[in-house]
Amino acid sequence: MAFPDYRPRRLRKNENFRRLIRETTLTVDDFVYPLFVVPGKKVRRPVSSMPGVFQLSVDEAVKEAREAKELAIPAVLLFGIPDKKDENATGAFHQDGIVQRAVREIKAKVPEILVVTDVCLCEYTSHGHCGILQGQEVDNDPTLEVLAETAVSHARAGADMVAPSAMMDGQVGAIREGLDEAGFEETPIMAYSAKYASGFYGPFREAAESAPRFGDRRAYQMDPPNSDEAMREITLDVEEGADIIMVKPALAYLDVIRRAKEEFDLPLAAYNVSGEYAMIKAAGRLGWLDEPRVMMEVLYAIKRAGADIIITYFAKEAARTLAR
Ligand code: PBG
Repeated sequence: MAFPDYRPRRLRKNENFRRLIRETTLTVDDFVYPLFVVPGKKVRRPVSSMPGVFQLSVDEAVKEAREAKELAIPAVLLFGIPDKKDENATGAFHQDGIVQRAVREIKAKVPEILVVTDVCLCEYTSHGHCGILQGQEVDNDPTLEVLAETAVSHARAGADMVAPSAMMDGQVGAIREGLDEAGFEETPIMAYSAKYASGFYGPFREAAESAPRFGDRRAYQMDPPNSDEAMREITLDVEEGADIIMVKPALAYLDVIRRAKEEFDLPLAAYNVSGEYAMIKAAGRLGWLDEPRVMMEVLYAIKRAGADIIITYFAKEAARTLAR
């Protein structure tokens, strides 16, 4: 087929033609909406680098979950900022910890929405690293026990799914074992399998108050230039029992998403991270680009690349756009 016999513009003439031949569908079913939960009551503190995102006390998080449910968003993903941080992240697995309380409240008041919990230690350690330290290094194997205990405490509180993001070797297996032993063999794991050491997490660290006090996360999160290694990471997580695999961030790693979609036969999530959100919000505010339009373009791109699930701070806005 060549010009002039084939004229691709024939099918681009108007929106109805475009709808008919549109290859990628995006629906509210694809979205997971992240929430940041803090101690207190009636707290709704704006995150300055993420317009539209707030640190929420449990009561406010319930409201937000209800709004998400009303927009038909299937799931929220919870991050907790505890009262006190310590060396050993004890706030992470406390029975009455911030996330555990938020899970219980949301499941009690908005049972229709899935509650997924981030399983990591960086919000709970005084040093801000994702695991237990040995000197200046994060010690892998002792961290596994704490992660497993944390995941079990989330499941006990009623979490529908846990999402380990610490990038410790063996974390999915350790959590699977911990959950099974505690009687939660039906609780699925969404594994942050290929999580890169990314500058795009900057705004999140303001939202979650989890910036490392020294050094960075390059000794456990992946090196951005690598893609074969991402496939090895995903293979390990699949072998250890992941139910959903993830690539994170999304936009600078669309090729990794595509490869993961082609090489693995599990549901694939992509995390449209804080910096990806902040860039669009910032440029939109400056009048440098059309924010609602770019939001949809980006979400379609992540879906087109192969993601089945998109974790995004745009979930509510995009759900409203799709409902129109
Ligand atoms: C770790 C975690 C991070 C994000 C999700 N889980 C931060 C990090 O690894 O530093 C980043 C999410 C985002 O940037 O939106 N608990």
